[in-house]
Amino acid sequence: MYLIFDTQEEVSRYTAQLVYERLQNKPDITLGLATGSTMERIYAELVTLLQQKPMDLAQITTFNLDEYVGLGRSHPQSYYYYMFHHLFNYVDIPAENIHLPNGKAPDLEAECKRYNELCRQQPTDLQLLGVGTNGHIAFNEPGTSFESITHVVALTKQTRIDNSRFFSDPSEMPHEALTMGFQEIMNAKEITLVVTGKHKAEIVEAFHYSTVTETLPVSVLKKHPHYTVIFDREAASLLPVEATSPTPCIA
Ligand code: GLP
Repeated sequence: MYLIFDTQEEVSRYTAQLVYERLQNKPDITLGLATGSTMERIYAELVTLLQQKPMDLAQITTFNLDEYVGLGRSHPQSYYYYMFHHLFNYVDIPAENIHLPNGKAPDLEAECKRYNELCRQQPTDLQLLGVGTNGHIAFNEPGTSFESITHVVALTKQTRIDNSRFFSDPSEMPHEALTMGFQEIMNAKEITLVVTGKHKAEIVEAFHYSTVTETLPVSVLKKHPHYTVIFDREAASLLPVEATSPTPCIA
């Protein structure tokens, strides 16, 4: 299902509200969380909602999708740092319930195995996803097998160019990451993909018309029984008219 909103702000508000409602309905929910600029405003809205209408988050578990190899928890561009900076510092989720792959683990293969086992033990109820301009989800780059589980990935040139914007010194941009594979992602009961901005319009168009193929990682979602894509008008600008209406109301 597609949901289209006029602005990124509306997308963020709607998505945060959706997460909030899922939390209300299932206090022991397992959330799959993503990073990137798209998610920043969603987390900001979610923090606001949780401050306005507090709820008990003691039973929530979270799993993040990925982490850069070589960046420690205190590195401002690590996804660990990102998650605390944008969400975990402001909400009361017990630290032991928060999970991210460790990009500084001495044995990366063992770390992937550990993370996969954790994910398997506790499948995700709601997975939030973004998409890279090359169609990657988490850091599953084009060509990754749909059978993949958590693994070490060599980031593509496109991803390194896109994501180096976050680094004050672009040469610090890592070459590798740990990422959940398609298996863990697709195991989620519900998946919400959020896509905003004109720079994503072409990948959205590719997704819309594509068959399910490993050359376009995000196309895997079409195999999922319960996925929603939430766009703003700019990201949806190359979609055919019949795919982009009607626009839903915000609750
Ligand atoms: C990174 C993350 C992805 C995310 C993507 C899009 O590459 N690994 O999980 O979907 O960024 O990020 P943005 O929202 O900044 O476009």
